[in-house]
Amino acid sequence: MTALHFFLFTLFTVSVHAHNITEILNQFPEYSVFNSYLSQTKLADEINSRETITVLALPNGAMSAVVDKHPLSVIKNVLSLHVLLDYFDGTKLHKISDGTTTSTTLYQTTGNAHGNVGSVNITDLKGGKVGFGSAIPNSPLASTYTKSVKQIQYNISVLEVSAPIIAPGILTAPAPSGDFNITGALEKAGCKTFASLLVRSGVLKTYQTAIEKGLTIFAPNDEAFKGAKVPDLSELSSADVVSLLQYHAIPSYTPIGTLKTKKDPISTLATNGASKSWKKKR
Ligand SMILES: *[C@@H]1O[C@H](CO)[C@@H](O)[C@H](O)[C@H]1NC(C)=O
Ligand SMILES: *[C@@H]1O[C@H](CO)[C@@H](O)[C@H](O)[C@H]1NC(C)=O
Ligand SMILES: *[C@@H]1O[C@H](CO)[C@@H](O)[C@H](O)[C@H]1NC(C)=O
Ligand SMILES: *[C@@H]1O[C@H](CO)[C@@H](O)[C@H](O)[C@H]1NC(C)=O
Repeated sequence: MTALHFFLFTLFTVSVHAHNITEILNQFPEYSVFNSYLSQTKLADEINSRETITVLALPNGAMSAVVDKHPLSVIKNVLSLHVLLDYFDGTKLHKISDGTTTSTTLYQTTGNAHGNVGSVNITDLKGGKVGFGSAIPNSPLASTYTKSVKQIQYNISVLEVSAPIIAPGILTAPAPSGDFNITGALEKAGCKTFASLLVRSGVLKTYQTAIEKGLTIFAPNDEAFKGAKVPDLSELSSADVVSLLQYHAIPSYTPIGTLKTKKDPISTLATNGASKSWKKKR
């Protein structure tokens, strides 16, 4: 157990950073829609848990093209293209060498982005304007830098842009379907032992039921089960296996950025009680 938990607890060792994008944007009602969707999609947590980041904020008027008629999963992908994994302020934007560059965005880190669909093209246009577009060749630079909103050097920069940056295909991606194959995904990720335990114990059903309301699984990989301090699973009672497996999932959609910003113990699928909650290592 100890080795298993140590492996998983390493997830929690990254410290919480000083900035809070929700709080920064709360001071500017003109970005309230953008701000609200950053929270709903949990991108806010992702932003707060990173350093050296630039948020391209969309004013409320520009948000309708993104939020109207699109599922939250699509909105999340679009907004994650507006979070650059580099620090740009107004000065740096105008000093790009050769006048054009690309920057990786949070979208690139989601696993949904193929090729450079998760990068944006930043180009110093004639007349002092800076244009933004998808890094996919021949995409229009349809969004321009309008003004600087807030900088905390060199941790976070918030800049306003005129229009959403849309990568080809991003708006038409289907929403994830309800019949997500948990064991298939676990096997693909190198967690075959864990997947087979889920099937054998029947806990897979609990996971599948929980998924409707959001589920986060802390899956030990096959290597973790081979650790010297991991008990022989065949010696555990089936009740223990069930609670071990329940303990490795929390009943909400909690991406890594959110985990990093959590301060309180996190409840798991296991029965309520202090010992069955995750405690964050400080
Ligand atoms: C920038 O981030 C670092 C690391 O999280 C933190 O120690 C520092 O206080 C932050 N700087 C400012 C000005 O907030
Ligand atoms: C960031 O600020 C918002 C609004 O003040 C607050 O609700 C939220 O808990 C803060 N997040 C963190 C990680 O402190
Ligand atoms: C950015 O887009 C412009 C216009 O399509 C293009 O000329 C330029 O080469 C692109 N920059 C990069 C770094 O790909
Ligand atoms: C889920 O994936 C596993 C492993 O790839 C496969 O054996 C199983 O048949 C799949 N289940 C469904 C319902 O597609």
